[in-house]
Amino acid sequence: VIRTHCLVYSCTFVVFNLVLSCDHFCEIVLVEGSRVFESWKNPPPPVFMEFFFFNITNAEDCLNGAKPKVTQIGPYTYREYRYKDNVTMVENGTMVSAYTMKKFVFLREKSVGDPAVDNITTVNIPSWAVMEKMKDSWFRTMVSMFMKTLGSGPFTSRTVHELLWGYEDPLLEKAAGYTPGLDKAFGLMYKKNGSDSGEFIYHTGEQNYLDYGRVKTWKGQSKLTFWTSEESNRIQGSDGSSFHPLLKKDERIYIFTPDLCRTIYMDFEKEVEVKGIPAYRFTPPRSVFASKEENSDNEGFCVSKKECLGTGVLKVSPCRKGAPVVASFPHFYLAEDKYVDAIEGMSPDREHHQTYLDLNPTTGVILRASKRAQVNILMNRVGGFPDTKNLNETVFPVMFLNESVVIDDESAAKVKKLLLISDLVSNFALFIVGLGGIMLLILVVLLFRAHQKKPSAQDDTSYCPVGDKGREDPQNGTYIGLTEKVDA
Ligand SMILES: *[C@@H]1O[C@H](CO)[C@@H](O)[C@H](O)[C@H]1NC(C)=O
Ligand SMILES: *[C@@H]1O[C@H](CO)[C@@H](O)[C@H](O)[C@H]1NC(C)=O
Ligand SMILES: *[C@@H]1O[C@H](CO)[C@@H](O)[C@H](O)[C@H]1NC(C)=O
Ligand SMILES: *[C@@H]1O[C@H](CO)[C@@H](O)[C@H](O)[C@H]1NC(C)=O
Ligand SMILES: *[C@@H]1O[C@H](CO)[C@@H](O)[C@H](O)[C@H]1NC(C)=O
Ligand SMILES: *[C@@H]1O[C@H](CO)[C@@H](O)[C@H](O)[C@H]1NC(C)=O
Ligand SMILES: *[C@@H]1O[C@H](CO)[C@@H](O)[C@H](O)[C@H]1NC(C)=O
Repeated sequence: VIRTHCLVYSCTFVVFNLVLSCDHFCEIVLVEGSRVFESWKNPPPPVFMEFFFFNITNAEDCLNGAKPKVTQIGPYTYREYRYKDNVTMVENGTMVSAYTMKKFVFLREKSVGDPAVDNITTVNIPSWAVMEKMKDSWFRTMVSMFMKTLGSGPFTSRTVHELLWGYEDPLLEKAAGYTPGLDKAFGLMYKKNGSDSGEFIYHTGEQNYLDYGRVKTWKGQSKLTFWTSEESNRIQGSDGSSFHPLLKKDERIYIFTPDLCRTIYMDFEKEVEVKGIPAYRFTPPRSVFASKEENSDNEGFCVSKKECLGTGVLKVSPCRKGAPVVASFPHFYLAEDKYVDAIEGMSPDREHHQTYLDLNPTTGVILRASKRAQVNILMNRVGGFPDTKNLNETVFPVMFLNESVVIDDESAAKVKKLLLISDLVSNFALFIVGLGGIMLLILVVLLFRAHQKKPSAQDDTSYCPVGDKGREDPQNGTYIGLTEKVDA
């Protein structure tokens, strides 16, 4: 048994029966006090969150039926500080409960401008949320007139900071008077600074290394309730921050993403190298966001049958209090052409808009990752609201983000050391197997020769142990499973 700071190799060599079994990485288990546990709680590599906005330049024309024209503005970069809080072992150490806290600090030197100053014209999300809520109500005309007096149209101009971290919206302020529990403020990242995304209970991997980091429950529930099928509501895989060791190329990696209110998956794409460490790149295939016609597993994501969207977009309104929010990859990468063609300024591109994870297959450590997602609003003609009368159904892009991480040099050095030891151990195992093979061969040859010599040898020996010496020492044969015939 070779013990390193986070790995245990306990190999059983039963050379002559050619049985070899190795339990690699027995210690990649979340155990209090272990080093893995510390870096799981406070991941050392710096995470950067970049936001890119789409500024519409022809808002007026668009309301009259023109194709929306947008320009991409960004990045606005924030350093993301993450740590796990209130970490407690549960179920006799086979599970661990934790809250992941996130904090964002703006980095001016990595951004194109000052978020407090830069104005972006985009869809007025609170206004669309209210219209969506009211579209079947009998007093929608009243609401419509009221919105007019407040100046709450389909588009709005706000600073980047307001759009992200929240601003008080006059319409929501009024609505909050009638709807208890409704927030007066709106922001894409509103209340996300210094908060957590609910309690997670993870498997520690103590019982099975394949379970390392697997999510058992989120907010006390082992499955979701947003969607309409068992398949869609399933919570599978890890939360994207840890993966089990010994990854295989044909493996499908599941990640539960509270932001999308669902589990997504990734498949192996290619082998890459990060800071000299070999990695497998996993990326989400098109089937993740495919329409229910293209992938019947996705049927449950189409909550109301009459407003199902196509491939590449996911309507997440069930978990956004009914607001017409649609998630996709940036620039509608991997989506149907109709979404790309509907907006001037979209140019999907794999290199820039793909989400990927580069994992070291031996250890399961994340070497580099980039999570890219876009927030869109579904714009449509809404009866009773004259401003929308010339609109066709459009998935309008508001913002996309790139949350990226690259392993820090110190951790990279550690992983390299581990891999070196792993190589040595597996080569040592091979060496033993090889040695066993050679010895077996010698044995067979000797047996064969002894067999041929048999008539001239002692008559009462039917099995001959290794060499002539064996015959003088009867004990010699036993360790290789051969016993001299002593009777007769
Ligand atoms: C967004 O577009 C408007 C005009 O439509 C312009 O005034 C504004 O400066 C643009 N915002 C940025 C950050 O470039
Ligand atoms: C809206 O749809 C109508 C009918 O399908 C079409 O004639 C028109 O060109 C569309 N407008 C835009 C801006 O796509
Ligand atoms: C952690 O526990 C403390 C004390 O019980 C509690 O006040 C705090 O809200 C908890 N943190 C989270 C994120 O739930
Ligand atoms: C924890 O272990 C003890 C003793 O091994 C056992 O009696 C108990 O049922 C276990 N509890 C859980 C939640 O597994
Ligand atoms: C987030 O909160 C921290 C303090 O906890 C603060 O320093 C930082 O500026 C905040 N970030 C934003 C974007 O408001
Ligand atoms: C941003 O837009 C608001 C509202 O239209 C305006 O009051 C403000 O002066 C604009 N800021 C800049 C820097 O253009
Ligand atoms: C994140 O993605 C954007 C969009 O493609 C790209 O411009 C940016 O360089 C990426 N950031 C990092 C840190 O890779």
